[in-house]
Parts: sequence; structure tokens; C-alpha cells
Amino acid sequence: MEMEIKSLEITLRPYRLSDAEDFSKYTGDETVTQFTRWNTFKSKEEVLSYIKDACIPHPYCRSICINDCSIGMVFVKPQDGDDMCRAEIGSALAAEYWGQGIVIRAVKMAITEGFKEFTDLVRMQALVLIENKASQRVLEKLGFHMEGLLREYTIHKGTVKDVFM
Ligand SMILES: CC(C)(COP(=O)(O)OP(=O)(O)OC[C@H]1O[C@@H](n2cnc3c(N)ncnc32)[C@H](O)[C@@H]1OP(=O)(O)O)[C@@H](O)C(=O)NCCC(=O)NCCS
Repeated sequence: MEMEIKSLEITLRPYRLSDAEDFSKYTGDETVTQFTRWNTFKSKEEVLSYIKDACIPHPYCRSICINDCSIGMVFVKPQDGDDMCRAEIGSALAAEYWGQGIVIRAVKMAITEGFKEFTDLVRMQALVLIENKASQRVLEKLGFHMEGLLREYTIHKGTVKDVFM
């Protein structure tokens, strides 16, 4: 199975409303959403509005695809004004595809495209909950450097949390 996925082409493309069903496989799954900013989507309406109002207008939010089917998400969010030199990256993958290096390949592609598209960027950063070991490992494998612990930095699903930068 691992060999099969590795030889399959992963592509990134903008979201479409027709991704709703595939999208709900990861945004509606608590195994995935326990670490994401969005809550677990419970209905097709919630999924459609998120794609329409958040993914499509986003400066760079891409569907990670196999055979054009959405299996995950990666985003690069450049900051505004005097902070336009940096962008935040994030990703999520349907749980059935975890552990096969797919997100590493997708994030590498997004970083390359992000630097091309947003010419003021010199820095990519990621904020990760301290409990999210898989994501920390992914970032480490991508060559990101741990810069520190930000204490009581964000409210995650109603609870104030520390995050790693
Ligand atoms: C984080 C996520 C994107 C990783 O995707 P993935 O394709 O499974 O990642 P990879 O297969 O490339 O690598 C995962 C690495 O983390 C390691 N890992 C996985 N779970 C782990 C855990 N609980 N503790 C420590 N390491 C862990 C794996 O062993 C692997 O490292 P290795 O190659 O050295 O063995 C995916 O797990 C996900 O969608 N999680 C939920 C959403 C999320 O957390 N998004 C990021 C928010 S900042």
C-alpha cells in the first residue's frame, strides 16, 4: 500500500464546491479536527459554507488531491502590512492516508508555490499545539526550526493552550 501511494501523484489545486463530500471525510472526523482550528463539521451546509466562505476566497488554500479527489488541505497565509514578510502554514489529511509522507510532499509543494506567489515572503512559520506530535515531526522533517514555546497563546476549542512556534 505504501509503495502504491508513494508512486501516485499528489496534486494541489484550489477548492471547488463539488469537493464537499470528500472534504467532510477529514473536516468531519474528530481524529483529524482535534488539532485543527475548525470544529468538527456536522452537516453538508457547514462544509459547503466553509469551502465557499473560507477556502475559496483564501489567498492560498489548496486541496491535496489524489486523482483529483480531495484527501486533505494545505494553506499558506501571508500576513498583512508590515508582517507581509511572513506566512503561516497549516495542513490536515484524511486519517486513512496518515503515516505515508503525503503531507510532507504537499507542504513542500505549497512552500515552493507560496514563495513564488507572494514575493514579499521571506519566512514561513507554523504554530503547533504541544500535544500534536505528528505535526511537530512533519515540520521537523521539513527542516523547520523550533523557536520556542508560546505560553497561553491561543484559545483552542474553548481552552487556552500553549503552542510551539
Ligand atoms: C499532522 C498530519 C498532517 C501528518 O500527516 P502524515 O501524512 O500522516 O505525516 P507523515 O506520514 O509525513 O509523518 C508523520 C510523522 O509523525 C510521526 N508521528 C505520527 N504520530 C505521532 C505521535 N503521536 N507521536 C510522535 N510522532 C508521531 C510519524 O511517525 C511520522 O514520522 P516518521 O516519518 O519519522 O516516522 C496528519 O496527522 C493530520 O492531518 N493531523 C490532524 C490535523 C493536524 O494536526 N494538522 C496540523 C495542525 S498544526
